[in-house]
Amino acid sequence: MTRRKLVVGNWKMYGLRADLPQVRAIADAAAANPSVDAALCVPFTLIERAVAVAGALTIGAQDCHEADAGPHTGCTSAAMLVEAGARTVIVGHSERRADQHETSQDAWAKAAAARRHGLNVILCCGETEAERDAGRAERVVQAQIEKSVPEDASGDWFTLAYEPRWAIGTGRTPTPDEIASIHAIARAKMRQLVGDAAQGIRILYGGSVTGANAAAILAMDDIDGALVGGASLTAEKFVPIIRAAA
Ligand code: G3P
Repeated sequence: MTRRKLVVGNWKMYGLRADLPQVRAIADAAAANPSVDAALCVPFTLIERAVAVAGALTIGAQDCHEADAGPHTGCTSAAMLVEAGARTVIVGHSERRADQHETSQDAWAKAAAARRHGLNVILCCGETEAERDAGRAERVVQAQIEKSVPEDASGDWFTLAYEPRWAIGTGRTPTPDEIASIHAIARAKMRQLVGDAAQGIRILYGGSVTGANAAAILAMDDIDGALVGGASLTAEKFVPIIRAAA
């Protein structure tokens, strides 16, 4: 099965109104490369304004609460994201696992909430450096997938992102072969969980992807796209990655 490449920018806690011209320029590049699916996950506060300048570029969020509504001070529901114009949401990012102590079960519940409200979901998994050094990377990723992937996951709304924590923001990346090998293990685990639907689910790589290494990473058959942090903050850095996926 051929899966279209998907390139997603994760702006994390960056992005003010002054950065909207970057969104517009990234949207223009996405429109000029129609063979690639592209999305930008911006801070909550920027979603509506980003949607207004993004044209066909998908605008998403970086987290949602697992409940539909309720007394949860400071949290944002999937319904709120939809109302703001988001079409996709990242859940289970390693920074939320580290900073907010989120678990794979939390990621599962957030993915389910997003699904209930019609959002696409990008669910993150990935090992720490200590886990990799101990030879446990594969088992960690398999366990995260087992606990966090919804039973009804399918390619029309669900994407998995493999982001080794030690590669995030560090400038260090696994080789394309090493990434492809974890992706193969991840897909096999997904097949166990959701059967043939696993074949249609995109598995992205994230962690220090740049314009310089994107082509080599994205050339691998098993790597269906990239989840990009730092290099998605400006069109100058992000557009070459979109082009590399085309
Ligand atoms: O979600 C994207 C991410 O965590 C990777 O960040 O800055 O290494 O591309 P970065």
